[in-house]
Amino acid sequence: MTAKIIDGKAIAKEIRGDLAKQVAELTKEGRQPGLAVVLVGDDPASAVYVRSKKRACEEVGINSLVHRLPQETTQKELLALIEELNQDPKIHGILVQLPLPDGLDEEIVINAISPKKDVDGFHPINVGNLHIGQEGFVPCTPAGVVELVKRTGVSIAGKNVVVLGRSNIVGKPVASLFLRENATVTICHSRTKDVAAECRRADILIAAVGRPKLVQQDWVKPGAVVIDVGINRVDGEIVGDVDFEQVKKVAEAITPVPGGVGPMTIAMLLKATVEAASRA
Ligand code: GUN
Repeated sequence: MTAKIIDGKAIAKEIRGDLAKQVAELTKEGRQPGLAVVLVGDDPASAVYVRSKKRACEEVGINSLVHRLPQETTQKELLALIEELNQDPKIHGILVQLPLPDGLDEEIVINAISPKKDVDGFHPINVGNLHIGQEGFVPCTPAGVVELVKRTGVSIAGKNVVVLGRSNIVGKPVASLFLRENATVTICHSRTKDVAAECRRADILIAAVGRPKLVQQDWVKPGAVVIDVGINRVDGEIVGDVDFEQVKKVAEAITPVPGGVGPMTIAMLLKATVEAASRA
């Protein structure tokens, strides 16, 4: 058996196509969705991400405004900008690109974003809403992961979902989302006693630990769906947390890296921005 390759790039394109239609409608009503992206400092990877977010916004017709602030920006200046964006009726979503330079407190900055504009889903109010199953913004990468699994046609309710990694950005929210879909969810982390054994019980396996090719063929139950959130640079090449060439021999479906989860993250950000504008 060889796995079906889940084409995140094509799925993300389809989602952007649907969003473009919704954006056109909203724009006609004088409610063009607006996303403010705040980039502080000169981290090259962050600059690349911000550029692709802006390009994706333009493609679907979302008004995107990138605020580039110097490395030496103070907390007070950054908070003042966020407050201005919170008040701006043309801005429906605010994204502060992380990580922030040393000296800026991410927690304080995220808490300053209005929960109604927190399209990243990082504000504690949105984290809490996800946890108790109330409506709110959900972090983009986890939302993309669930969307990819749903589009394989595999049902989620009652399945064993194993999540590798417990980060606030991916592991914990992805676990909450699958719980909401009535899966039986296990979260593995660095202290888990036998990670391979836990993984072998997974009908749906989500790898989000940032360890190149950690997940081996004999960690995967034949017929499982495997979603690889890892982006690791090894000898100039981008590889995931899953040994793709080996695992695809046993999985039912698997995401490639790149071209799997990555493109979905931005598609989900655009979707959240359109939702914010619709609700406003
Ligand atoms: N840096 C890396 N991933 C993300 C993300 O999803 N949102 C923000 N704001 N910054 C990031």
